[in-house]
Amino acid sequence: VIVACGTSWHAGLVGEYLIEELCRLNVEVEYASEFRYRNPVISSGDVIIAISQSGETADTLVALENAKKQGATIFGIVNVVGSSIARMAHAGAYTHAGPEIGVASTKAFTAQLVVLHLFALKLAELRGTITPERFRELVHELDAVPDKVAWILQHQEEAIQAIARRYIDAHDFLYLGRGYHFPIALEGALKLKEISYIHAEGYPAAEMKHGPIALVDEQLPVVFVATRDPYHEKIVSNIQEIIARKGKVIAVVTEGDQVVTDLAEAVMTVPAADETVSPLLSVIPLQLLAYYIGVAR
Ligand code: F6R
Repeated sequence: VIVACGTSWHAGLVGEYLIEELCRLNVEVEYASEFRYRNPVISSGDVIIAISQSGETADTLVALENAKKQGATIFGIVNVVGSSIARMAHAGAYTHAGPEIGVASTKAFTAQLVVLHLFALKLAELRGTITPERFRELVHELDAVPDKVAWILQHQEEAIQAIARRYIDAHDFLYLGRGYHFPIALEGALKLKEISYIHAEGYPAAEMKHGPIALVDEQLPVVFVATRDPYHEKIVSNIQEIIARKGKVIAVVTEGDQVVTDLAEAVMTVPAADETVSPLLSVIPLQLLAYYIGVAR
């Protein structure tokens, strides 16, 4: 069970996908504030992964204390060394992202994703659910992330600033993604709300047709996380549904993706990466977009 709040909860969702895929283990991701007040079924032998930048979030801390009393093992993924959650956990890994000074958790989020990936890889190796080749491939993929992030910062900032200026007057934004990028859509929307005070919602792209599509018109920018992954064709058809209703599509795309580039009004490009690693890249343009819209407003 992964327990967290806010941005850390979004990292937990990515962790769920990673651990289920690589380790073939059931994972539930819980809002600490709900987990704390209801009466969850916890058995000794259950492992609770607590994710927290500050290590002091009260709902997360109390949820963990309750679970610990019921015999669960607590594994902390915490940024602040020596914080309350770090001290009460049985085991854990610090993210060592450095202090988060602003209100928005950004580098702590990407560091949480890295720790979750390493955790899933090690657990998969121990459980024998990953081949040595795939293990090595993913370690190399993780190793390549800093250079790929540097590429985004170097080559995409201007484009993102221009997008920010273009959509500065929007009252609402919708963020859509599938698979590993569904949590990234949620995180992109949260960052925009926090930093620019614009209303934004994140949704699984396919779920959009079950209600939110009613809101789509020429006033609504819809941000798709549409990088090349096994869902690419499906996300293209979701983009076409939005365009058919005159929504304005902004997309995060993989370098060289002409299909989505031709459909969208604006794109932010990221380098290609393995699907399991790509959330680490696709979140960066969304963090920058929120920042530059905030600055522009
Ligand atoms: C978003 C943000 C919050 C925190 C949440 C949990 O940018 O900062 O959503 O993620 O309050 O805080 P931590 O991770 O310190 O437990």
